[in-house]
Amino acid sequence: MDKNENIDKFADDLQEQIIKQARKEYSEAVIDHWQNPRNFKKLKDPDGYAKVTGPCGDTMEMFINIQDEKISECGFQTDGCGTTIVCGSVATELALNKTIVEVIAYVTAGEVLKQIGGLPTADVHCAQLATETLRRALVDYRSMQKDPWKKHYRK
Ligand code: FES
Repeated sequence: MDKNENIDKFADDLQEQIIKQARKEYSEAVIDHWQNPRNFKKLKDPDGYAKVTGPCGDTMEMFINIQDEKISECGFQTDGCGTTIVCGSVATELALNKTIVEVIAYVTAGEVLKQIGGLPTADVHCAQLATETLRRALVDYRSMQKDPWKKHYRK
């Protein structure tokens, strides 16, 4: 085995150990969204946008596009931990193809947690950060509809 093969094997073994450890605390759905996050992307010039920093200091951004009063595209970015990524992934998946009213009523932190079989207490705020950021992106969309010029002053 040459040096590069050794490094690859070390990285694979390490990743396997991390996943094995994570499986003790988290559901398969959490591991799946963690390893394959859905909608982890920025949208250029979105119809609705929000950036929220949670009490833990992690930040999430949500980008939404609306077509025929439904969420046609949804993306998120975060500098947060693995469970923040999981919650952003689940929240954006749940929001797609729903109306604004449906998202507000249905895509709650409780629903995100239900979809992934729950999270340890210390990680529950990740679901709140994801759904709060989504809700604010919807508020931003409504506000841009009223005053489209505000879009030019988004940070
Ligand atoms: Fe703060 Fe995940 S640890 S949002």
